Amino acid sequence: MSSDLISSNPEIARQIDPPEIAFADELAFLAVYDDGPRPPGWRLSPSAVVTFVLGSDGALTSGRERMTITPKYVGDRRLVERCVVTLAGSRGLLLVGEPGTAKSMLSELLSAAICGTSGLTVQGTAGTTEDQLRYGWNYALLLAEGPSQNALVPSPVMTAMRRGGIARIEEITRCLPEVQDALVSVLSERRLSVPELGEDTVYASPGFALIATANLRDRGVSEMSAALKRRFNFEHIDPIADRSAEIDLVTRRTQTALTEAGTPMSVDAAVIDVIVTIFRDLRTGHTAEGWSVERPSTVLSTAEAVAISTAVAMTGAWFPGRGDRLRDIPGQLLGVVHKDDADDAARLLGYWDVAVKRRSDEGASGSPWRTLWEARDLLERPR
Ligand SMILES: Nc1ncnc2c1ncn2[C@@H]1O[C@H](COP(=O)(O)OP(=O)(O)O)[C@@H](O)[C@H]1O
Ligand SMILES: [Mg+2]
Repeated sequence: MSSDLISSNPEIARQIDPPEIAFADELAFLAVYDDGPRPPGWRLSPSAVVTFVLGSDGALTSGRERMTITPKYVGDRRLVERCVVTLAGSRGLLLVGEPGTAKSMLSELLSAAICGTSGLTVQGTAGTTEDQLRYGWNYALLLAEGPSQNALVPSPVMTAMRRGGIARIEEITRCLPEVQDALVSVLSERRLSVPELGEDTVYASPGFALIATANLRDRGVSEMSAALKRRFNFEHIDPIADRSAEIDLVTRRTQTALTEAGTPMSVDAAVIDVIVTIFRDLRTGHTAEGWSVERPSTVLSTAEAVAISTAVAMTGAWFPGRGDRLRDIPGQLLGVVHKDDADDAARLLGYWDVAVKRRSDEGASGSPWRTLWEARDLLERPR
């Protein structure tokens, strides 16, 4: 591999910065701003962790510095507080919910704030082995030297134990239950023995904790062993409940994407309003007006709403003169909805015939719903 492909090169921009880098200034500020008691091994006080995750109410002042902490995760403050309390205790934290509800994002933000890194991560898959949760070996060294500390390859979990940091296990329920169970002793005894090295045991330093995420659409949490379940506190993460909070988030994300793409445009509020409305109607199966609509089987998460809104905005920025941006929505929606189930396209048409049509009939001539209704044929043609 040519050396300029190695991503640790600081000259090369990263597509996505982890939160400990993206928000390094906020983390440094909060560490000074809130000098309240911290659980052993923590970089910030529990209340500063919550402020980092949810954002501050206005600017905070510390000495001569002032800083506004940006809102990141949008959700219930009490839920975030409970997560923080769990992580200061002896149980693991399991975030459970539909895909796209910011479980991974929340786990990264908590890890970055508490221990300074979100990078000690194991991505769970059907092929995840116990080694990836405990430790493995560098086989060349193992053969040359026999078992030694040098030849040991620690898992992110073992590294987190040594450093007193947070290890994140993504999509834990995709791992086989027997493999998941490697975490039972880690969570209960707080140590990992390495029998190949005789007496060597890795003990968890203060601050060590685990955050796992699980998607409800994967193999169920119910298959997790009772022993492991008991060692986690479960938190259910729901889609954003508040409509205006969801609109704000989608607007912010779309604006960021436009800025990052170097397109000096502002977001179109009407387009975002329409997208979020459609997503919320289809997610819940009923509209604000009280009409029922059939829910597609595909997940219509905020993450997908952000993706569509960004795509529509980019299309407008890169291909100006194409006319109304609202006409790009049906094609993008089909792209989301067509993933799992062919019948979902029919459900989308059904939504158009019930909700979009009625809003178009009732709306004024400039109503976006009228434009969308006129674009109904775009849902029927292959894209
Ligand atoms: N409640 C929320 N607060 C902030 N961002 C959210 C929220 N819900 C969804 N998102 C958006 O969705 C994206 C994907 O979330 P992600 O953490 O990958 O979800 P999950 O792990 O639950 O599948 C986030 O980066 C963010 O843009
Ligand atoms: Mg995830």
